Amino acid sequence: MVEIVYIASIDDYLVIDECAKMKILLERQSPKPIYLQIRDRISHLIKYGALKSGDRLPSIRSLAESLQVNKLTIIEAYNVLEADGIVSARQGSGYFASSISPKSTNLESKFAPAQNVIITKPGKCSFYEMYTPLVQAQTQPGMINFGYGYPHPPKDINLIARRALRQDDADIFFPHEMPQGQLTLCRQIAQMLVHQGLEVFPEDLIITNGSQQGLSLAMNYYVQPGDWVIVEAPTYYGAISILENLGAKIIGIPMTAEGMNLDLLEQYLHSHRPKLIYTISTFHNPTGLTTTQNHRQELLALAEKYECPILEDNAYEGINFDAVPAPIKALDKNNLVTYLSTFSKTLMPGLRVGYMVVTGKHYQAIIEQKLLHDLHTSSISQTIVSEYLASGHYRRHLSRLRTDNLQSRNIMLQALERYFPEEIRWTVPTGGLFLWVQLPDDIPIGTIRNEAFAENVYLACGSAFFPDKQGYPAMRLTFCLSPEEIEQGISIVGRLLKKYISRGCVDTEPLVVKHHRFEIKLHTALG
Ligand SMILES: Cc1ncc(COP(=O)(O)O)c(C=O)c1O
Repeated sequence: MVEIVYIASIDDYLVIDECAKMKILLERQSPKPIYLQIRDRISHLIKYGALKSGDRLPSIRSLAESLQVNKLTIIEAYNVLEADGIVSARQGSGYFASSISPKSTNLESKFAPAQNVIITKPGKCSFYEMYTPLVQAQTQPGMINFGYGYPHPPKDINLIARRALRQDDADIFFPHEMPQGQLTLCRQIAQMLVHQGLEVFPEDLIITNGSQQGLSLAMNYYVQPGDWVIVEAPTYYGAISILENLGAKIIGIPMTAEGMNLDLLEQYLHSHRPKLIYTISTFHNPTGLTTTQNHRQELLALAEKYECPILEDNAYEGINFDAVPAPIKALDKNNLVTYLSTFSKTLMPGLRVGYMVVTGKHYQAIIEQKLLHDLHTSSISQTIVSEYLASGHYRRHLSRLRTDNLQSRNIMLQALERYFPEEIRWTVPTGGLFLWVQLPDDIPIGTIRNEAFAENVYLACGSAFFPDKQGYPAMRLTFCLSPEEIEQGISIVGRLLKKYISRGCVDTEPLVVKHHRFEIKLHTALG
């Protein structure tokens, strides 16, 4: 049985009188993480003047002791406050309420796309054409790559990897590995998921070669050629490609600012009786949106009503700036939801370690498929991830990642406001790695992409994320870049948008990216 870690069973009301009277009420049973509760309370005290600019905050140790929480929790809270621009750290002296007012970032999203459903016939899979130029662009020196959705690698991973490999070499290189993966790692992941509100047994987990393999295993299990499948429009192109390859017919239900349009979902569940709903509930790729608890409940209720399984892809799990609701899988009583995630977005994509939560009768069928595919996921990669989790480095790394990404997101939002024309709308994600920009209908996005490329800026055009590449003009922008890259890249794209915005123009020829072994034509795909 998985242990649920709550710090105490009743609410505490504490008065800390270090340099200011700080009353912090912690709701130990709340789904909102403790560090975010502390962040919100301190932020409130500063905003309403109970803490004045220049006031020193309690030390990490004293606040941790007073609140009876781990010091890491306070560090996480202070890091997020610092990223918000509400407190500042002074070397050797501690944290201080900021003398500057919080950065004026407009957090209002005006995302409101047309609600058109996309219906496709079985089509040609174009994943290779989309994926390879993106990776290629990443290796080009000086390229500002807004298309690449991965974080910076953690600095301490080499150290941890060496430590992991020094253990018992024979066990790592000649393992007796089961297809579901190492039990220690499954236990660690199960414990980690409890903190997201998802209680699972380690025996429900399957370690996969990245979540791409999880997607492929689940889609192959649930979908036969010619079946209807529901996806969000837009959605992750790697999932669309698996479905295309499978010969599935795709129904793209449009995203609203709250998530998949549930009225349209019900309509198409009723009329087409699909075999699977694929959803990215948290930090959706590409829009960055997260659905509410209500939306999750309603989506599950519809899936239950029409007996349609859900594949919940939570690849960006853990990179949240704010509290997020528990996954849909946490509400699932009937083994209708298959859940998957990955360490690619938080640690390193090259490790290729992802995982699935599969319950009920589906587990055995999927594990047999996993065995046929590759016997098991690399023992070396599993051991490194396991060591990283056991060492406590992962938690610290996540905390840093959240702080850095929040700062980068804010810098990007400010740059968008400064450089982009007024009529352009974008989402304001509360986590993940990117945001989504909705463009006017007549914008020649291919031309803008080509001209941006000539100035060393790589753009992920929105069409790649729609089934059949239909859908409105848009682009996905990763904010996981340096402040200088964001500033420079957004100013270039902003200039190009202004140049073409009211002019209207026919798109130019596809751009050709040269590689030492091949040439790739970037039509309206990612490039
Ligand atoms: C939503 C989503 N799912 C799955 C994946 C696949 O990731 P990986 O196989 O590296 O875990 C990605 C990669 O970008 C993604 O964005």
